[in-house]
Amino acid sequence: MIKQANPRPNDKVLDAIKRVIDSGRYVKGPESVKLEEGFKSVSGCEYNYTVSSGTSALNLLLKALDYPIGSEIIVPVNTFLATANAVELSNYTSVFVDVDDSMNMDPDKIEEAITDKTKAIIIVHLYGTPADMDKIMAVAQKHNLDVIEDACQAHGAEYHGKKIGSIGRVAAFSLFPTKNFTVLGDGGMVSTTDRELGIRIAKMRNAGRDKHPDDADEFGFNFRLSEVSAAVGNALLPDFEAQTKRRQEVAALYTKGLEGVGDLILPKVLHNTVPVWHQYTIRTEKRDELKAFLAENEIQSSIKYSLPLHLVKAFQNKYHIPEGTYPVGEKICKTLLCLPMHPFLTDEEVETVISTIKKFYT
Ligand SMILES: Cc1ncc(COP(=O)(O)O)c(C=O)c1O
Repeated sequence: MIKQANPRPNDKVLDAIKRVIDSGRYVKGPESVKLEEGFKSVSGCEYNYTVSSGTSALNLLLKALDYPIGSEIIVPVNTFLATANAVELSNYTSVFVDVDDSMNMDPDKIEEAITDKTKAIIIVHLYGTPADMDKIMAVAQKHNLDVIEDACQAHGAEYHGKKIGSIGRVAAFSLFPTKNFTVLGDGGMVSTTDRELGIRIAKMRNAGRDKHPDDADEFGFNFRLSEVSAAVGNALLPDFEAQTKRRQEVAALYTKGLEGVGDLILPKVLHNTVPVWHQYTIRTEKRDELKAFLAENEIQSSIKYSLPLHLVKAFQNKYHIPEGTYPVGEKICKTLLCLPMHPFLTDEEVETVISTIKKFYT
């Protein structure tokens, strides 16, 4: 079976876990501090805060930004649920914007979604493909909006020489097992270049406290990452660069092998960006048949995501946005397929995926 994703420990992970057990320090310890320091090279941000998941990262940063209740936050219609759940649970309002052929938010459709209640744009770099940040930052600056980067799928990606996560005001990363960089469990990171916001986030992840054990000058959550998880992250971080490179090699093989095959639409990458290929997502009118054919041939694939957010029940119940409102995103959800993508794929396995897809079309 060729796996779609394949999170794996390395030979340093067990020692790292033992180190924490021997120390007896399970939260708020040196492993988290070390991971935050090491993550600077991933996020390009000076201030990084370990948290319990990418979802916690989004909830935390949205609460820390402290917009008035009912503020409108612009969100791409194609993303994981967590992006807009965090908006809703912070008592803001999600305003969806359609994506374009890159499968990221269409920058030309943002302006029409802005009202006098809009406070921020959440940009998702879906599948590890950088969104069109120059255009997005220009619209945000014109309307005095914050840009929040949902970089949960985009560890180490670059846009015009800048790390994804360091372009907007603040970013969320997920360290979930299948992600490009992981703690082999739930985990996340909030990254920012804004020192004041960072200080607030650090307190709010820890019941609002700074140094005093009982006194706090903010309301807060417990969104801390465990020391065991942070130690796993520290053991895996040295492999991250080589693993990203391998994902890029796999993507290049797919692109070369699948160009012009059947009705396939291959992923689009903007000029002067470095994608990190969390997913290699193709599109075809025959998606369900192709998925079944791959499965018959022992090849896993997945559909991330099958519903645009406005058609998810919870958002339907609140916003009643009819089908057809975001045609590009809706079409993508019906035609997308994520091929096997992880750093342990061999060239031979990639060739098998390519030849099986070609066979499907003959
Ligand atoms: C785009 C996006 N946002 C947010 C999240 C939430 O991250 P987590 O699963 O770590 O809570 C994910 C994870 O799947 C994601 O892909």
